[in-house]
Amino acid sequence: MSPQEEINRLTDQLNYYNYQYYQNSVSEVDDFTFDRMLEQLTALEAQHPDLRRPDSPTTRVGGTISKEFKTVYHRFPMLSLGNTYSEAELVEFDNRVRKGLDGQVFEYVCELKFDGVALSMTYENGILVQGATRGDGVRGDDITNNIKTIRSLPLNVGNKGREEREEGERSIPALFEVRGEGFLPFAEFERINKEREDIGESLLANPRNAASGAFKQQDSSAVAQRRLDCFLYSFLSETAVFKTHEESLIAMKGWGFNVSPTWRKCADVRDVMLFINEWETRRFELPLATDGIVIKVNSYAQQRELGFTAKSPRWAIAFKYKAQGASTTLNSISYQVGRTGAVTPVAHLTPVLLAGTVVKRASLHNANEIERLGVQLGDWVFVEKGGEIIPKVTGVDLLKRTEAVRPIVYPTACPVCETPLVRTEGEAHFYCPNEKGCAPQRQARFEHFIQRRAMNIESLGEGKIELLIERGLVQTPADLYDLTNEKLLGLEKTYPAAPILNDDGTETPGKARTVKFGQKTVDNILTAIERSKQQPFTNVLFALGIRYVGATTAEKLVDYFGAMDALMVAPLEVLVTVPEVGPRIAQSVAKWFTDPDNLTYVERLRAAGVQFAGERKVVEVQSDKLAGKTFLYTGTFADFSREQLEAEIVAHGGKLLSGVSKKLNYLIVGENAGPSKVGKAEQLNVPMISEAEFKAMFAD
Ligand code: IVH
Repeated sequence: MSPQEEINRLTDQLNYYNYQYYQNSVSEVDDFTFDRMLEQLTALEAQHPDLRRPDSPTTRVGGTISKEFKTVYHRFPMLSLGNTYSEAELVEFDNRVRKGLDGQVFEYVCELKFDGVALSMTYENGILVQGATRGDGVRGDDITNNIKTIRSLPLNVGNKGREEREEGERSIPALFEVRGEGFLPFAEFERINKEREDIGESLLANPRNAASGAFKQQDSSAVAQRRLDCFLYSFLSETAVFKTHEESLIAMKGWGFNVSPTWRKCADVRDVMLFINEWETRRFELPLATDGIVIKVNSYAQQRELGFTAKSPRWAIAFKYKAQGASTTLNSISYQVGRTGAVTPVAHLTPVLLAGTVVKRASLHNANEIERLGVQLGDWVFVEKGGEIIPKVTGVDLLKRTEAVRPIVYPTACPVCETPLVRTEGEAHFYCPNEKGCAPQRQARFEHFIQRRAMNIESLGEGKIELLIERGLVQTPADLYDLTNEKLLGLEKTYPAAPILNDDGTETPGKARTVKFGQKTVDNILTAIERSKQQPFTNVLFALGIRYVGATTAEKLVDYFGAMDALMVAPLEVLVTVPEVGPRIAQSVAKWFTDPDNLTYVERLRAAGVQFAGERKVVEVQSDKLAGKTFLYTGTFADFSREQLEAEIVAHGGKLLSGVSKKLNYLIVGENAGPSKVGKAEQLNVPMISEAEFKAMFAD
């Protein structure tokens, strides 16, 4: 088989597996085989870059870095919808439609109104060629590479279930657009925030912001890590393909697009109201936030007859649900201490029914939030279910405030170890600085260490670590490597029962829990500990739990330094030159390695035999002639490709920035330079240099 044939075979096969997985929930291959094939394809494409197909599944992992998004004009404008908030307003809309259609019979299609980011995708000859944001409705940003990371979005609509393809389907037009809502599923949002909390990063506010932030990122491999999804709800083409919106939804689904099955055809406005009422609470079962219903006239001919106002179609409208809220009393506040010492206040409420579930706790985020709300203990508070799983307190019902309320006194000392709390300028949280002695911080440090992405000793979960700490068998995770069969076998403790809250607000006594180290458990644990010595250095570095060093940052540090010894002595100036490492992370790393306890900890891990070296994947440093200087380039160059230019900057100690700002020292200007960068550089007085001047800066 020729390389092209092999590339075609792998591309088609992998796209087909992907289609089966996302469209029909069928895994035709195991993950291992899939990954092997993907690796093969990646390798072949690296050898023959010009043979790579535009619908290659390797584009899904990202890898492109764009300095600025290209602006693209929408072939069809992206309009917005009028809003209604009541049945009466909806009936008015229905009357307008009826009048506009002059007594004709008509139907509606109702869909959920998804609360994400509007996206428009263009397909040419079945291949996804462009993905864009809404922008101002007329033109948006070309974010094709980011959109390709959405795994449920077909890169090639010709490539799908082979049998189904033939049957009764309309031919796919040569050029069409589909539109839909890009979103971050709740489960992903929770996962990302858990990881961020774990390394002391600030939390993402809600899934919508997280999605819109992700789609606008310039490094598409960072986008791929956020596992975005998209529900499609519109089909557009120059030539008429369908008679009704319903037909288009069915066809899009058949072609492999992710169309939410929640839509329904409705005969009249009464039917629409039934749909609205049904989904008022059912919508909380969906993987993303929704804020209403979209009602569309089904027939395309009738849509055309009704036409548009300046901003929105006359054939569609949104019905917005009122925010789902409830009010209840705030009884007490508990303060939780995380791994990094961050203290988070949690409101304990009189149980109340909210959108189908009983709520007894709500997030209060931090001290600022308590102040902003002006809330006191005993107050009646409003709680709302936003995008997040945990509801939040959104306000105080001052009309119901009584004399009995008491001010909230934010603790000045850690609720667990009593160390005075500290707060750094610009941070929303108070922290307990007693990293080493504070029990929840210590416990969380172990949990961080044993997780799968770190040392993978998860058999130690479920209260076992707690018991080991309590019995004095371990103090730091390095002590795990001294555990023996003798020390562990037979350890046992019964934890008292904690009450369980029922849905009706009453409590039933829970069951007592026993943690027990039987022979089988001990064998599993000791094997997992032994095996953890083979975990790659990236995992070890992540496991150390240095603040702000998540799995990705650990990877970048290993790529750059290769080994613990090089990293340990790296000065700040060098750390900040590592890709994606800014001053905040660099300082945190440098500081961590100055603490004598941390150094002892590292040496004990070294002695235990865990991996302290990985593979360096970095340009060899050639000089430090560009050290401390920041660069950005625009246009094309005679002697360098973009990659070579970037490599030269790094090889001579310089740092590449992603945009023109006051922090930029030099803009390297080539042929066909972008006017916006040059304009901004002029405005900020950033020196502009030519290719020759750049070369002279590091020439021998
Ligand atoms: S149709 C001409 N259907 O709502 C109308 N929009 O205010 C085209 N949206 O920007 C939009 N769910 O991002 C349509 N099922 C749905 C939708 C939906 C969410 C968003 C969309 C648009 C905004 C319109």
